[in-house]
Amino acid sequence: MGEGAAGAGDGAPTGLSALLRPEGWALLEALPPYDPDRALALGERLRADGVPPGTVAAALTQSRLRAAARDKVGAFADGMLFTPDGLEQATRLPVAARHAARLRAAGATRVADLGCGIGVDALAMAGMDLAVDAVERDEATAAVATVNLRHFPRARVHLGDATGFPAALPVAQPGTPGGVDAAWADPARRAGGRRLTDPEAWSPPLSWALGLPGTGVRAVGVKVAPGVDHALVAPGGPAHGWTAAWTSVDGDVVEAVLWWGAAAVTGAARSATVLRSVTRDGAVEVQEAGTLTDVGLPVPPVGGVGAYLHEPDGAVVRAGLVGHVAAAVGGRLLDPMIAYVTADDLVPSPLARSYEVRAVLPWGLKRLRAYLRGHGVGRVTVKRRGSPIDPDELRRALRLDGDGEATVVLTRRGDERLVLVVDPVTA
Ligand SMILES: C[S@@+](CC[C@H](N)C(=O)[O-])C[C@H]1O[C@@H](n2cnc3c(N)ncnc32)[C@H](O)[C@@H]1O
Repeated sequence: MGEGAAGAGDGAPTGLSALLRPEGWALLEALPPYDPDRALALGERLRADGVPPGTVAAALTQSRLRAAARDKVGAFADGMLFTPDGLEQATRLPVAARHAARLRAAGATRVADLGCGIGVDALAMAGMDLAVDAVERDEATAAVATVNLRHFPRARVHLGDATGFPAALPVAQPGTPGGVDAAWADPARRAGGRRLTDPEAWSPPLSWALGLPGTGVRAVGVKVAPGVDHALVAPGGPAHGWTAAWTSVDGDVVEAVLWWGAAAVTGAARSATVLRSVTRDGAVEVQEAGTLTDVGLPVPPVGGVGAYLHEPDGAVVRAGLVGHVAAAVGGRLLDPMIAYVTADDLVPSPLARSYEVRAVLPWGLKRLRAYLRGHGVGRVTVKRRGSPIDPDELRRALRLDGDGEATVVLTRRGDERLVLVVDPVTA
């Protein structure tokens, strides 16, 4: 692993080197808020004013990326640099802040971020007063991370191969503090624009990341795909003893992280955290709606459709923790293999969306069309679990034109295909 802060070579494809010179940076800082309709004219004007074309192109690219990055990092975007790939792969800042908080709560003081990308996780760690050694093998990306971490003197970017860890970074030893005491890895799970489903094709590969406890650190976090196999953390699995933690934001499952050591939840193989964004005083804040683990997970009963249907949050479903939601709403599963919960009375849960059941029909296009037309429904939201029917095709095939709205749920109970027509319960 190489030491020292990286610089972007002149051959960096993003043209970043122009921005790392004072006049380039000053231009970027002086640009107006990005407006796609005016970017072309702005570029022409700057070139006519004598700004070198490469510098103009690089500044406008960064301006566009900063605008796009606001979804992930909020107002911090305006002081950061990005690469298109780095932005796409970066953790959302509120989620990164939770990673950092977890490592801090595990007693970490100095974290090795092994494959730091443009540095959003590292930024959150540094912002929580952790020392960070951020390792990145791509030169331009490392340069960007260096810029993004410039306000934190205890955060250093190392250009090099993370799989060399801990060769060039000292791990804290009992009695000799100051070394790295926690490791974070967020392997690249895309190559050539494609998602890599095989964890051994990730960079670095998952098997390498699962070896990090052997380096002597007290806590490890490894970000993985939300589709990660439960068998990994089950008894006999390669990550038995780790906690696999799924997180959703506003209903989208954004990640799973494998936590080990002081960062794991004692006795829990799986957990789910549901986050929601709320706007307060004009600013968006991400709040936790709830966290569940598989400790004491009840096996839910199975039974017929009641007056209400609950759709557990995706993180709860991915983590296999629907039994907790069923217990909380006093409900039962329609089918033991399908994550829909039904109940006779309405007990809302912050970890599920609730619907009032209007009708339960055996599956049949004509029957469903007749029901919806008969009830003046012109617009449908289609949801499905355990059904092969394509929602878009169904919407087209229904040919509805009424004024009303309904949610159509395609599912099954055993071999019996069912359609539920439901209405969302509003809080
Ligand atoms: C998913 S991104 C990290 C994103 C980061 N957590 C963030 O929030 O910005 C993974 C990064 O790991 C880097 N990487 C992949 N293999 C590496 C290796 N062997 N050594 C160092 N960096 C590596 C890639 O270049 C990529 O920038």
